Amino acid sequence: MPHRTLQFRFFSGSLAEENADAILLGVTAAPPLPAPGQILDRATKGGLGKRLARLGFTGQNGNVLVLSDLPGVKAPIVVVVGLGPKAGVDERRLRDATLTGMKTLKSMPGLASVINTLPLLSPESSPLVYRHAVEASHEACYRFDLCKGKRGGREEAAKAAPLLRRILLPAPPGRAKAPTAEAVRTGEAIAEGTALAKDLGNLPPNVATPRYLAEEARRIARGDRRLTFTVLDEKDMRRLGMGALLGVAQGSREPPRLILLEYRGEKGAAQAPYALVGKGITFDSGGISIKPSANMDEMKFDMSGAGAVLGTFLALKKLGLPLHVVGAIPACENLPGGGAIKPGDILTTYSGETVEVLNTDAEGRLVLCDALSYVARTYRPRAVVDAATLTGACVVALGHHPSGLFSNDETLARELEAAATRSLDRVWRLPLWEDYQDELKSNFADFANIGTRDGGAITAACFLWRFARELTWAHLDVAGTAWKSGSAKGSTGRPVPLFVQYLLDRAATGRR
Ligand code: BES
Ligand code: MN
Ligand code: ZN
Repeated sequence: MPHRTLQFRFFSGSLAEENADAILLGVTAAPPLPAPGQILDRATKGGLGKRLARLGFTGQNGNVLVLSDLPGVKAPIVVVVGLGPKAGVDERRLRDATLTGMKTLKSMPGLASVINTLPLLSPESSPLVYRHAVEASHEACYRFDLCKGKRGGREEAAKAAPLLRRILLPAPPGRAKAPTAEAVRTGEAIAEGTALAKDLGNLPPNVATPRYLAEEARRIARGDRRLTFTVLDEKDMRRLGMGALLGVAQGSREPPRLILLEYRGEKGAAQAPYALVGKGITFDSGGISIKPSANMDEMKFDMSGAGAVLGTFLALKKLGLPLHVVGAIPACENLPGGGAIKPGDILTTYSGETVEVLNTDAEGRLVLCDALSYVARTYRPRAVVDAATLTGACVVALGHHPSGLFSNDETLARELEAAATRSLDRVWRLPLWEDYQDELKSNFADFANIGTRDGGAITAACFLWRFARELTWAHLDVAGTAWKSGSAKGSTGRPVPLFVQYLLDRAATGRR
């Protein structure tokens, strides 16, 4: 199983004398050393400062230095991470420093416990910085070797597995102790949800099928009275008239699923729910409008929105938030074949409107439109947020740092922007304007499923908007953020941190 056994503990003793295998230290670009560094410098009678100077370590952002056996310091290893100029040290920088430091430490053999002093470097050691330190530690230690073979890498992987288990965090001053402990627990819940989303994304498409996602949802709900799991199969979809979702699924031998989770926390249960909808295309070949072969394997990640909804529900369950939340996942494969939909086919959606499929590769919006209408009609939600690896155009527009945000509601858009900032799971808003709707005109059906290439992320959002008219709704295009390509290929688990933050904020507002 993936590495998910980190334990966090507070310590309040002296840094130089604490029993641990390593200390993680942050150093800014110019003197003086931040407080924890000064403590170690004093304990080493100026030895730390001298070593840093001799090695020419200037505290440039991202630089790493490993020191060993500093006289006067009990921990045999000190990993120093550069933070850049003091003025630029913010929550993000500290989070990234923990990530860098932990990545260095986890590969050291025989190292089981680490003191992370970085949270002390935030202006008032805010609980949120502790939470990010917890999330980043898990991020650094995440591994996916479920699919390494017995004779190949699995045993090797097990042997090379990091020993790193215990992370010691400096105890915050008395009054801050309870909120900080809670922030650590929140970080653990987010990390667990993110790791589940990563696992689901990383699993191969012959394993992570629509039925597998449904089973995962069932597992999350099992034995928890606050959670209800429902799944609609092909027969149900036919009875309900979900022609768009069924259309995308019809070229595949894997049967589609519409997966539904409902969470009723204390107090929140009686209110209209918040709804999270996740695109669950477990493999997107493009269908008859087939994609080029290069990197087509990455289209196993086309269920990342679904994985994020499931990961969020896992975190939600752990956190026990006093909210009413619905999760909906339209799941199927998009494959070519004798039974597949063709360009020119016209599908009748669950809402009754007809869509001319001009490109079978624009399938995400087709499965999402039926899910959105179903959620609107069935649950009357107070707000709906969907996450979808929807368009390559969004990646062209924004690259890989923020997810694209679209919304028909200013308040919801602002709430998501605030949650994105807090969670460090960033978004950038793109326009949702009627002007773009013209592009979806069809000569034969109510509208088409694609516009021109230009502004493709926006026309895709405009397509969804047609099914969210009466909803307070936002759409996250996570095509550029849900996974990484190249040698670090793998799921990022985004936007689980954003989703959970959004729900945490709603729960906090309710309490006030
Ligand atoms: N899943 C893809 C979007 C995608 C592409 C995500 C590349 C990440 C990287 C989606 O189903 C798709 O194929 N979209 C098309 C839409 C086009 C046909 C209008 C695209 O972006 O090319
Ligand atoms: Mn596609
Ligand atoms: Zn797709």
